[in-house]
Amino acid sequence: MLTISKPFTFATTLKCSNCNREYSLLSVNTFAPCCGQPLVVVYDTSSGLLKTDFQYRQKNMWRYSEMLPVIKEENIISLGEGMTPILPLIKLGNRFGFSDLSMKDESFNPTLSFKARGISVAVSKAKEFKIEQCIIPTAGNAGGALAAYCAKANIKCTVVMPRHTPAIFKQECELYGAELLLVDGLINDCAKKIEELNKNKKYFDVSTLKEPYRLEGKKTMGYEIAEQYNWELPDVIIYPAGGGTGLIGIWKAFNEMKKMGWLSGPLPKMIAVQSKNCAPLLHAFKDPVNWKKNFTPMPTIANGLAVPYPFGMNMMLKVLKESNGTVIAVDDKEIISGVKEIAKTEGLLISPEGAATWKALLDLRSRNKIDLSEKILLLNTGSGYKYPDNLN
Ligand SMILES: Cc1ncc(COP(=O)(O)O)c(C=O)c1O
Ligand SMILES: [Zn+2]
Repeated sequence: MLTISKPFTFATTLKCSNCNREYSLLSVNTFAPCCGQPLVVVYDTSSGLLKTDFQYRQKNMWRYSEMLPVIKEENIISLGEGMTPILPLIKLGNRFGFSDLSMKDESFNPTLSFKARGISVAVSKAKEFKIEQCIIPTAGNAGGALAAYCAKANIKCTVVMPRHTPAIFKQECELYGAELLLVDGLINDCAKKIEELNKNKKYFDVSTLKEPYRLEGKKTMGYEIAEQYNWELPDVIIYPAGGGTGLIGIWKAFNEMKKMGWLSGPLPKMIAVQSKNCAPLLHAFKDPVNWKKNFTPMPTIANGLAVPYPFGMNMMLKVLKESNGTVIAVDDKEIISGVKEIAKTEGLLISPEGAATWKALLDLRSRNKIDLSEKILLLNTGSGYKYPDNLN
């Protein structure tokens, strides 16, 4: 039974993630023109929301509606996203000696990935603003999610995707009634195509962090992790980062909860994982000024990690720094072996992106950067069932 205290949202304003300049929540915004950086939603964290308020609420991410930016409940476009399980990886843990190893399995979401969360909020806000046409550059999962939620919202949808993406990602867009455009190259080439197509601002561009609301949906992973761990967070969270919304969103959630007094003690170390074929965050972590100089991005079988120039780079670096975390790159062969190992041991056919977190953990362990007794959470962001072409 849903029991929501009023008002429906505690969101107060938007602010530039770089200089804190404020922008209105009531108008359609993209990113902050002052600094050319993402906008973030700010909430009133002093309005008395309690962590015990959620006990009897619906089992999806809209249980946290006060900390989401939709103003009118009737505008919510939901397919039941969120409240995905945290599964203990007991066999894998035992085999390698980890005493508390779990995986939050985001493949339980609609359209089989965590992208459903961000897109649910973005499309709900698009409906609130009476937007009629959305466009998205995607490595695959976000496009499928946007196509599905736009279908439900009666919003026209155009998806621009690299041609080499596995077939199912293309088919689902068309089955949901979206227009699909294929581009030779990676997601940054799709973004260029969108710039060309959108000169007259016909479409609302739902690119990662170029509108403020997908981040809010992704943030709910952080709220769920806290609630599911009974408000005692893991020591380490390992997350496959492409555009970075999940990493940034989880960290935003933890900080909001800290402000509301729901969490005590240190926050988890946030470990980002990328593919060796495309690891801009690793390059920038090592050399924030000159990282683009010797950087040649290539495709990877973990399609969602092939984001060569993430718009949220500064925000990702800030999360790693604030959480005392790091970034690790894993090669594609290792990623495939990770998918197979987890399938054969735990009975979970997870995405290559998710499997990369497991291999990153083994890498950390081999360098003694993680203790066997630490409470470790891996994020599986999608389903292995969508990548048969990549997993042979
Ligand atoms: C399965 C999967 N994992 C991870 C990512 C990276 O997402 P983020 O933008 O949160 O870094 C993507 C993005 O396409 C994805 O599809
Ligand atoms: Zn600014």
